[in-house]
Amino acid sequence: MEYDQSVIVPESYKVLISEEEIQKRLQELGEQITRDFKGKTPILIGILNGSFIFLADLIRYINTDLEVDFIRISSYGNGRESSGHIKILKPLSADINGRSVLVVEDIVDSGLSVQFLRKMLEAFNPVELKFVTLLNKPEKKKVDVSIDYVGFDIEDKFVVGYGLDDGQMKRNLRSIYYIEQE
Ligand code: IMP
Ligand code: MG
Repeated sequence: MEYDQSVIVPESYKVLISEEEIQKRLQELGEQITRDFKGKTPILIGILNGSFIFLADLIRYINTDLEVDFIRISSYGNGRESSGHIKILKPLSADINGRSVLVVEDIVDSGLSVQFLRKMLEAFNPVELKFVTLLNKPEKKKVDVSIDYVGFDIEDKFVVGYGLDDGQMKRNLRSIYYIEQE
């Protein structure tokens, strides 16, 4: 049964990726990740806040033992443009030395966060360090980063919902929306 969220969806929001499309793609990503990490008991590291819903859904499509941890970084404040200045607001708790690690991002925009995270996590000597992102904006790259698993390549539009916020709100929307400029 479809769940109606229209009361919290402003008129300027247009569906970019529906709830059903997201779940279908997550199943495919989960199958691929299951194959690649079979028998390795990976640690999945979610990047807070944006990736919490993606991570929660994705791990339920991964059929191998795994652990979960979180890092919180901030580069945006409450604005819609990257400040380019990255701070660690919550460090890693798990010991990833000698482990297979899969970093879970909501969206890769300039690539600066991924570049920062890769450098920071490599210092802990994981045996393997891969990245999965639900969304990727190929046009916006300021640095060359390689992402191992991409849910959807999207245009350069500000998107919200499914964990992604608009001024800290709208994370609870089930689909992903772009905001139509008035
Ligand atoms: P990057 O360092 O520029 O690649 O930025 C990555 C981070 O910026 C993501 O993890 C998001 O938290 C945030 N971000 C980038 N684009 C959007 C967007 O369209 N909507 C919401 N958050 C975004
Ligand atoms: Mg993020």
